[in-house]
Amino acid sequence: HNHIDHATPEKVEAAIAAGDTHAHLPDYETYSAYAAEGGYETLKALRAGSATPDEVQEKVLASGLRGLGGAGFPSGRKWSFVRAEPGPRYLAVNGDEGEPGTFKDRFYLERTPHPFLEGMLIAAWAVEAEKAFIYMRDEYPAVLEILRREISALEEAGIVEPGYIDLRRGAGAYICGEESAMIESIEGKRGLPRHRPPYVAQVGIFDRPTLVHNVETLHWVARICREGPEILSSVEKNGRKGLRSYSVSGRVKNPGVHLLPAGSTITDIIEAAGGMLDGHAFKAYQPGGPSSGLLPASMADVPLDFDTLQPHGSFIGSAAVVVLSDKDSARDAALNMLKFFEDESCGQCTPCRVGCEKAVKLMEADKWDTGLLEELSQAMVDASICGLGQAAPNPIRLTIKHFPEEI
Ligand code: NAI
Ligand code: SF4
Repeated sequence: HNHIDHATPEKVEAAIAAGDTHAHLPDYETYSAYAAEGGYETLKALRAGSATPDEVQEKVLASGLRGLGGAGFPSGRKWSFVRAEPGPRYLAVNGDEGEPGTFKDRFYLERTPHPFLEGMLIAAWAVEAEKAFIYMRDEYPAVLEILRREISALEEAGIVEPGYIDLRRGAGAYICGEESAMIESIEGKRGLPRHRPPYVAQVGIFDRPTLVHNVETLHWVARICREGPEILSSVEKNGRKGLRSYSVSGRVKNPGVHLLPAGSTITDIIEAAGGMLDGHAFKAYQPGGPSSGLLPASMADVPLDFDTLQPHGSFIGSAAVVVLSDKDSARDAALNMLKFFEDESCGQCTPCRVGCEKAVKLMEADKWDTGLLEELSQAMVDASICGLGQAAPNPIRLTIKHFPEEI
């Protein structure tokens, strides 16, 4: 299993003192290394007519690949939505990986950026995009530097026209990972989510049809085109197909990105992460970011895949798994999640802006007023514009349901 081995500030300082000016960059597969192994041959063949966009789309659908930003929308289907609209069309990569506990996109970009870049250019070819924007979070300086270098290498190699790939930096707002807020930000405006419909596939950047994909989704697009849809469709576990890059943190011995079958349970994930830390007993877990709330250890046999957690009032999202132990308080964790949403709410709509603030106050009380919290939660779910406000009540509801003794 892969383990994040990132440069620490101490290591970087020591390396810079020793004269290594690139010390902040992890070792990664460069353009020349990737190309020497047959990288970009698939893209070149497609551009030369080896298959039609429809055929590639069928392959991607056959693999079962679903959007790995967290929503799990069937990846190939987006292509036909965008292609059905008249040009010019754009492609935008959502690299604003802001979901607390999620670090899988960074993991791939700091090691193997080129399957992602090739996947992006395949998707851009499939929808005949005039331009590809990469919206990358500024908190990933190494990734930004890697992308700058590798995009230049692609331009020098003649794989893309200079300027075709436009690398944009996010500025630290969680909401700019919401796709329509990201598009507003790319257009140079404040990142406020738009009402949907219309979907960005129809009305995206500068009102043009825009294909939006997550970084890891595109990594798999390139691999499916090159290695075949079976790399995902042949993996089966607990009735689920495919692979998931679980970002695992919390009270485990070996936190990091663990690539496991999509039907894995929290028991499998903790085992892959080396087991619980000594002296800690498994108590609860966050399955997919704070908006997925907390589930108790008694729910350890549910496969953690798209759709499987819906009946339990949760979801897997971007597979940001945080493991809590008997030394942690579910109540404190839920309050922390709501404080995060309060901070990150863009403030555009009242149910979310005021709702998050009121929820935090109610959750800080010695005893939770569960009736009022439930009423507030329902108003937020019903009336918030975007997923932030709609999902923010999940930690409240799940804590009331599963950890009543703490509240
Ligand atoms: P969504 O289900 O509304 O949309 C998913 C995608 O499918 C979007 O690109 C949307 O435009 C497209 N889509 C859906 N229906 C469509 C239709 N009828 N026609 C055309 N396109 C359509 O979900 P949303 O709100 O975009 O994402 C929510 C997820 O994001 C959550 O699961 C959450 O876990 C995740 N998330 C991930 C973060 C990260 O750092 N990776 C950060 C925050 C949230
Ligand atoms: Fe902004 Fe929250 Fe409304 Fe989303 S739900 S538009 S984050 S105020």
